[in-house]
Amino acid sequence: MIVAENLVKEFRLAERRPGLAGSLSTLFTRRHRIVRAVDGVSFTIPAGSKTAYIGANGAGKSTTIKMLTGIMTPTSGRCLVRGIEPYRHRQANARRIGVVFGQRSQLWWDLSVPDSFRILRRVYDIPDAVYRRNLALYRDLLDIDALGTTPVRQLSLGQRMRAEIAASLLHDPAVVFWDEPTIGLDMVLKDAVRHLVNRVHQELGTTVVLTSHDITDIAAICDSALVVDRGRVVHQGSIRDLLRTADRRSVLFDHRGGPGPESACARIERGLPGVSAASAEDGRIRVDYPVDAFTSRQVLAFLLEHFDLADCYAPEPDLEDVLRRIYGGGRREPVPAEVPGPRQEGAA
Ligand SMILES: Nc1ncnc2c1ncn2[C@@H]1O[C@H](COP(=O)(O)OP(=O)(O)O)[C@@H](O)[C@H]1O
Ligand SMILES: [Mg+2]
Repeated sequence: MIVAENLVKEFRLAERRPGLAGSLSTLFTRRHRIVRAVDGVSFTIPAGSKTAYIGANGAGKSTTIKMLTGIMTPTSGRCLVRGIEPYRHRQANARRIGVVFGQRSQLWWDLSVPDSFRILRRVYDIPDAVYRRNLALYRDLLDIDALGTTPVRQLSLGQRMRAEIAASLLHDPAVVFWDEPTIGLDMVLKDAVRHLVNRVHQELGTTVVLTSHDITDIAAICDSALVVDRGRVVHQGSIRDLLRTADRRSVLFDHRGGPGPESACARIERGLPGVSAASAEDGRIRVDYPVDAFTSRQVLAFLLEHFDLADCYAPEPDLEDVLRRIYGGGRREPVPAEVPGPRQEGAA
């Protein structure tokens, strides 16, 4: 179980005035600006769950994960991972967790992947059988052998991420924290990663905490969601519950005979005020309705009355739409991935 109690992390940033005089003056005067990256966050993540830690860029996800992995100490409040405070017991915590930071490498920059794995095997004291089983799995799913003896620094981002993901699971950790683990992966590899994490979760009951910009990753891997906005938790529950908070839903349908697409859409919008209808090239019509004004039953009844339906279905609400609304429409632009840096012990 992972617990956060009123977790706060503030950063002190030196205020810079422009120009050389400005740079020099910061040496003498102490003007600081406080950035509150995590603002009193409390949550409980049950053991064995696969939780998506969701939030816009800058919402404090990575900072929270750094506290949960022991890299950073909270300004106030505390967190517990399986009963221990990670930043107080870094070593003990490290043995039981696996970590991927998509934006920063956990591997040794100058070593090849097989050499890194051999070191991790000794660091974690991984039993032979476990090590061999896991390598065989990564060989199959992540094509790890293809990375050869190239130093990590010369791998492509996608190759490195495969190695990072494998490394995070090598010691059968009880908890994995994956922060943007699919950066740089193509569709085939993303699928492989989802397959891998689901398999590990099924076999070992691993707790998975994942952040991703890729909503399809979240939908494919996670069963629960923790949504943070501006440093605070704004939703916690199953992905299903999250989808239920959608304020608009859709029905798609095909119909036989008249009217043509344009007049069909016009008829729907006239008959159901507040509803929008649009037709695709193949004649399929999409109806979007606000859930506070209409039930799906009312919409369906209207369609049955006015059209000769050939096919009809109601898709799940779009997770991305739901999140966009939670962020209040003021969604910040995603920042491109930083150039990954070398392994840095204890760096912020
Ligand atoms: N080491 C740091 N020093 C100063 N500010 C930081 C540092 N790390 C993060 N921040 C700031 O804290 C906020 C949250 O950052 P982060 O946790 O990386 O968000 P997310 O991972 O959700 O995008 C941002 O405004 C970011 O600029
Ligand atoms: Mg981040």
